[in-house]
Amino acid sequence: MTTINTQRNLVPQDYADRIVDPCAWAEPESMYEVFTWLRANQPLGKVEHEDFNPFWLATKFDDISEISRQNDKFNSAENSSVLTRKIVDQQIRHITAGSPHLSRNLVNMDPPEHLKYRSITQNWFMPKKVRELEARVKEIASSFADTMIANAPECDFVSDIALRYPLHVVMDILGVPEKDEPLMLKLTQELFGARDPDLARDSEKMADPAAAAEVIKKVLADFASYFNGIAEDRRATPRDDVATVVANALVDGEPIKPYELANYYTVLATAGHDTTSASTAGAIWALCQFPEQFEKVKKDPSLIPGLVDETFRWITPVKHFMRTANEDYQIRGQTIKAGDWVMLSYQSANFDEEKFSNPFEFRIDRQPNKHLAFGHGPHVCIGQHLAKLELRVLLEALLPRIKSLKFNGEVKFTKANFISGPKVLPIRFEIE
Ligand code: HEM
Repeated sequence: MTTINTQRNLVPQDYADRIVDPCAWAEPESMYEVFTWLRANQPLGKVEHEDFNPFWLATKFDDISEISRQNDKFNSAENSSVLTRKIVDQQIRHITAGSPHLSRNLVNMDPPEHLKYRSITQNWFMPKKVRELEARVKEIASSFADTMIANAPECDFVSDIALRYPLHVVMDILGVPEKDEPLMLKLTQELFGARDPDLARDSEKMADPAAAAEVIKKVLADFASYFNGIAEDRRATPRDDVATVVANALVDGEPIKPYELANYYTVLATAGHDTTSASTAGAIWALCQFPEQFEKVKKDPSLIPGLVDETFRWITPVKHFMRTANEDYQIRGQTIKAGDWVMLSYQSANFDEEKFSNPFEFRIDRQPNKHLAFGHGPHVCIGQHLAKLELRVLLEALLPRIKSLKFNGEVKFTKANFISGPKVLPIRFEIE
């Protein structure tokens, strides 16, 4: 049985080990068990592990919302905004002369700078503008649906559709030519799957923290050199795309500096497709797990938007973000001290029994379904409306053409504790 040291309020060691271990996240059931126990017994505990600086782990929906809402009290800049090994953190600070971030972008900016940078593209990602993209996204979705139907009755849904469709959409919107998409896919996987040997740039080097930080720095430099070319092009010949908006933006009356500019593109490119790949695959994974929900949406396609929302909750592609307390803060009967590092577990929040009835049931008609897959507060996902549109449009193109759907082999998940979803999803399907 798991024991808890109430005096120091430590998360039990076997659970702490799993939370920090990317491999453990490739087994979703194992993580469900960890978080169910923590929500019931230790909703806000401290994780201590020799490879990491200690951090608080928030697992309850309400606590995560409360912390996320207040970026005056919890900052994103002082420490890494994602869980990072101590030695990698030291190495990054060495490379950057003190900053915990290899890249400076919206995710790790604080007020007032954060809002200035966010405002540049905020309107572009609002529902009104995103609706204008629907016709183009539909075209892309239906060409992927055609490919899948042409390859019936089997496919690996991840490599055939889930990796490629969202990439194509976000690159189209960013104005990256199709021929460069494989490069973007490779760089994103090298960034987010850095500890998964199947995805890392140089998996042998990733075991050595100093070498790992250098490898990631090179991946980011490759992104930067690519996007600086795009920016130059959009300054010379502006178009109606988000790349043009960023290239020509002013902050405090000045053009954005090349480093911040490249990082702006990089965060949109990366945040915009690994996450949506995970949710695209997540929808099919869930429908194979719950065939009665597949039957239900087949009978009533007006349930597709509900299926989309429930998919984001079910798969929760972004597992966490980190914050650092600006001041001592009382929450759930405890004091988070100024300077303490806090993990916001969206994965746990989205299965919080106090917010979701029978959270381990996948229900496409779940109402209400106010999940935290996109975060909350000033840093809430800027691309959430695009992500919803993208998945809805694909499912609308695909589901009417499929009569049955089932697993056709072992499903594998990405070994990552930041962004993770199905990595291999063999399915068998009949067409209408
Ligand atoms: C922020 C999740 C798709 C761009 C976030 C955050 C989450 C998230 C949880 C909050 C970060 C925080 O609180 O620190 C997701 C999920 C997606 C998705 C689950 C898809 C299923 C997208 C897309 C784009 C995008 C399609 C853009 C094309 C961003 C950006 C931020 C962000 C730029 C930073 C916003 C800020 O810090 O102000 N996302 N995202 N995301 N997301 Fe997404």
